[in-house]
Amino acid sequence: MNDLSARLTDRDHPLRIHLIGVAGSGMSGLALLLMGMGHRVSGSDRVTSGETERLQKLGLAFSSPHTAEAVQGADVVVYSSAIRPENSAYAAATAAGTPVIRRAVCLAAILHTRKGIVVSGTHGKTTTSSMVAHSLREAGLQPSHYVGAEIPVLGANARWSEDGEWMVAEGDESDGTLALYHPACSIILNIEAEHLDHYKDLDEIKEVFTTLVNQTSGPVVYCKECAVATEVATKSAQAVSYGWSGADYTAAEIRELRGATAFTVVRNGEILGDVELGIPGRHNVLNALAAIATADKLGADFRLVSRALNTFAGAKRRFETKYLSQRLRIVDDYGHHPTELAATLQTARSLKPGRVVVLFQPHRYTRTQALADDFGKVLQAADKVFVTDVYPASELPIPGVSGATLVEAAKRHGDGDVVSLPNLATAHHVVGNFLEPGDLLITLGAGNVHEAGTRIANDLKVLEEILRLAPVDEIDAKLYEPMRRHTTMLVGGPAQFWIEPHSFGAFAAVVNHCRERGIALRVVGRGSNLLVRDGGMRGAVVHPSGGVFSECRVEDGKVIAGAGVRLKKVASVAQAAGIGGFEWMEGIPGNVGGALRMNAGAMGTETFDQVASVTFLDEDGEIRVRSRDEIVANYRDVPELRRNFALQAVFEGKPDTAEAIQGRWDASRSKRRTSQPVAASAGCIFKNPTETPAGKLVDELGLKGCNEGKARVSEVHGNFIVNGGGATASEVLAVIERIKAAARESRGIELETEVKVLGEDEYTF
Ligand code: EPU
Repeated sequence: MNDLSARLTDRDHPLRIHLIGVAGSGMSGLALLLMGMGHRVSGSDRVTSGETERLQKLGLAFSSPHTAEAVQGADVVVYSSAIRPENSAYAAATAAGTPVIRRAVCLAAILHTRKGIVVSGTHGKTTTSSMVAHSLREAGLQPSHYVGAEIPVLGANARWSEDGEWMVAEGDESDGTLALYHPACSIILNIEAEHLDHYKDLDEIKEVFTTLVNQTSGPVVYCKECAVATEVATKSAQAVSYGWSGADYTAAEIRELRGATAFTVVRNGEILGDVELGIPGRHNVLNALAAIATADKLGADFRLVSRALNTFAGAKRRFETKYLSQRLRIVDDYGHHPTELAATLQTARSLKPGRVVVLFQPHRYTRTQALADDFGKVLQAADKVFVTDVYPASELPIPGVSGATLVEAAKRHGDGDVVSLPNLATAHHVVGNFLEPGDLLITLGAGNVHEAGTRIANDLKVLEEILRLAPVDEIDAKLYEPMRRHTTMLVGGPAQFWIEPHSFGAFAAVVNHCRERGIALRVVGRGSNLLVRDGGMRGAVVHPSGGVFSECRVEDGKVIAGAGVRLKKVASVAQAAGIGGFEWMEGIPGNVGGALRMNAGAMGTETFDQVASVTFLDEDGEIRVRSRDEIVANYRDVPELRRNFALQAVFEGKPDTAEAIQGRWDASRSKRRTSQPVAASAGCIFKNPTETPAGKLVDELGLKGCNEGKARVSEVHGNFIVNGGGATASEVLAVIERIKAAARESRGIELETEVKVLGEDEYTF
């Protein structure tokens, strides 16, 4: 290996090096370093990624997929731990007798060409190695670096610096490779029982760290708060400690600011100076102390180090703020061990949000099983936790181990609100809908849980833009509102953007905004005549309600009602004012907007029989009033209102006595009670065809009572499909198809649905 280090620094003879699996984060860092050192670097991978494209621009000869040709003529071949011996490039290199080495061996060889600083420990490696590299860079030491993730302040996960003598590297203890390094300086953050797939027990882990300590020629900086790290590090004659008290470097007067942390650094009892660290969390104060102690030992100017820590913005996926507005903050964190979760939740609390809401994806079955109890304990610190299925990370499932294991563990440890939400693909619907102003959402885990946060963040941006269109008291909005809460049939997937305007102005602003931005838009009322498919509704679903939309009053003998008023309410307001003719409305479950749009009717009367005028928003985004004679209204269809949106209507009736009105009201009610079901339904499913009423037809076809899952044709009335409890839209649609097919085949009648069927079969957002 020393031989390789020597060859790597021989400028006169650049090597031809091939990297198998170059798209991985560790391998791409090596590519950057080796190219920076002046070697001719090629790489292959199964996939092409943004990372491989970036590397190609910097000179990497990239090929995909892996081939035997790719390694031809290589002096050295480096492979990622994900590569198996059958890999064609790997097999060809071995057959050709080319030196084939592991990633960590190559990194060690590079590190030995410089004065290495290895950052090790169970938690906090990436953050701390980034802090060290950034601090040394700002202090003018021009270090090279190699860290485990993309760090915005560092520019990339690895960088070769031609002039500096130092190189900062994140050391990986997970597979024992820590023992490969002979650095000038080591940092040990903490040592815990982790990676028990590789190690027998904590003693075996300690051995690897002890080897590193023995191989370190200069300072061993360690955290005094960790007993195991202290035990291992103090074997060095040059051990340097940091911690909360009694250590060489300590922090005093810690002040948690919004998103940052201020403290005073004390070195062996003397004040060194102040730091305002650019990231939150007490555990990051410890990480910063590690960086400060190291930089100080290397002779860096404290003022420059302090300034660097102030501009430190943190690593991707390490308490990374993905969305921040007046109302909400979304943070993503890679934490997957109970200690990390505890630190992350404490940081979250320090930001003083209304509620800390967590979406946690457990990582690996082995860890979930081994540490279930500790997870159960630390999760109590959040106000609400949703736990998904386990992210396997190449492991096979262990029977009986799942996200639910942690929910059960949490129940044993307190009354924290921890629930199971197995499917990550749709978890964002539930979590996004749960959020309220003031909340802090953390997506937590080392797998792909961050994708849920990204989806919510993207949609929140759109939603909050819409909310800003009107004064706060004139509009409400939510993400992913389940449409089953807004349909009388209690069926349907989520609405991507659920919007409730409470004024004409807010309604018009929303409609115009969506039209300009190309956001799909639907207006829904009470959902009494609506069937939403299980995949939900993409775009904006506007539900006018409250304010002017819920007002219903009598003026000059006419009833004026907003689009959000229930027809039953119109009927009772009219009755109280002695206006007759509205009694048929008592049994219609919908509201004014929907009734206008489809010209709803019952007992031989239709909505437009009583309309005097309608106020609506027209296609140009203008609010206009049109009188009855200017509007064409057909049986269950008003062409004009397919494009325009009704906002309010004026209805006419005839003065009548209270007794006469009550009589008709009672007649309607008793007819409905005897001829229509009370179970959840969307009213009549089909329009009555000219030949015969649809209900009678279904009855004659013998289809009453037939079902698909929980969706059933009512025994009371053939034109009703009822939800027997938890029916899905696809079940309802299957019943509809069955009836249509039977009507077509037996009677040659083409039934047309009266209910509007909206939305998508599959989730698309
Ligand atoms: N019939 C049967 N078997 C059945 C159902 C009905 O033989 O299972 C017969 C009835 O005996 C009657 C005829 O079919 O002779 C018509 O039935 P009904 O009087 O119940 O009226 P409908 O046409 O089925 C219409 C509206 C209802 C409204 C009622 C009452 C349509 C599609 N439906 O029903 O509106 O409540 O009149 O006025 O126009 C709705 O639109 O959602 C709705 C429920």
